[in-house]
Amino acid sequence: MKKIGVLTSGGDAPGMNAAVRAVVRGAVYNDMQVYGIYHGFEGLMNGEIEELGVSSVSDIIHRGGTMLRSARSPRFMTEEGLKDAVRQAKLFGIEGIVVIGGDGSFKGAVSLLKKGIGTIGVPGTIDNDLGYTDRTIGFDTAVNTVVSLLGNIRDTTVAHGRATVVEVMGRHCGDLALTAGLAAGAESILIPEVPYDLDAIAEKMVAGKQRGKHHSIIMKAEGVDIDTAELAKQLEERTGIETRSVVPAYIQRGGTPTAGDRVLAARLGYRAVELLRDEVRGVAVGVRGDEVIVANLEEASVSQNHVQTKITELASILSI
Ligand code: F6P
Repeated sequence: MKKIGVLTSGGDAPGMNAAVRAVVRGAVYNDMQVYGIYHGFEGLMNGEIEELGVSSVSDIIHRGGTMLRSARSPRFMTEEGLKDAVRQAKLFGIEGIVVIGGDGSFKGAVSLLKKGIGTIGVPGTIDNDLGYTDRTIGFDTAVNTVVSLLGNIRDTTVAHGRATVVEVMGRHCGDLALTAGLAAGAESILIPEVPYDLDAIAEKMVAGKQRGKHHSIIMKAEGVDIDTAELAKQLEERTGIETRSVVPAYIQRGGTPTAGDRVLAARLGYRAVELLRDEVRGVAVGVRGDEVIVANLEEASVSQNHVQTKITELASILSI
């Protein structure tokens, strides 16, 4: 392929910019023309497309968010919307598109593929909810952001001898809550994949207090089916320990990407270009261990990250 496009879609993730940079510079290196498509699939339908060069992506490697902007587009899900998207791609002579995003974005990429546009998925989401890859771009940064926030929350929680319930992003996947909770030494971690037991959490809080502990941090992933303030209220009622709640929300999604996310973005973005150069389409790139892997795009779009039972157990053992 000689002309390719790149877009970012769905929830932004730190490291998306580094991935866009890798795609653009990788394409230029391989003598390909590369187009930036703004506002994800929405911008593709509207023709918000411009050619990018080496300098278009300078000074973005360290920035969170995405220079191409992002969107969630209900219109793209319709037959009309899809037709418009294909028409615009053809108008610009774009033969293949690198789609950087999560499962919803990959599903959009599959729809384009079925209409003859060669697409490649690059996993970019703080949720780490795609099962075909060990890591998604943005996850490592979000984990570090949450760990840093938990440090602040712990200070004030200890000062007052309270408990704090912290809600972490993750609609369907508890990996962010679990990993950050383990790293920060949270007392309890609630994730959507595992049923929770309020009595057990309350008992742990009380046991901790009796041992002279001055705080309890209870992590709760967004997708767990209890309101966060309500959870705090119920725990306070059961334990008699003053319990507050915090929802850091979008703070978790912004910020400077970690070195790990930048390196991952560079490797995956460049690999996607190589694949399009070699006329490969309909795949997603990812990592297993230290290896860059290539998976079927449609399968990748529905692959769910399975909760790491070993990590769940370890977090529970170490937080007695
Ligand atoms: O980026 C993924 C994610 O953060 C989910 O965990 C969350 O539920 C969702 O995005 C919310 O995104 P938005 O409010 O932008 O649609």
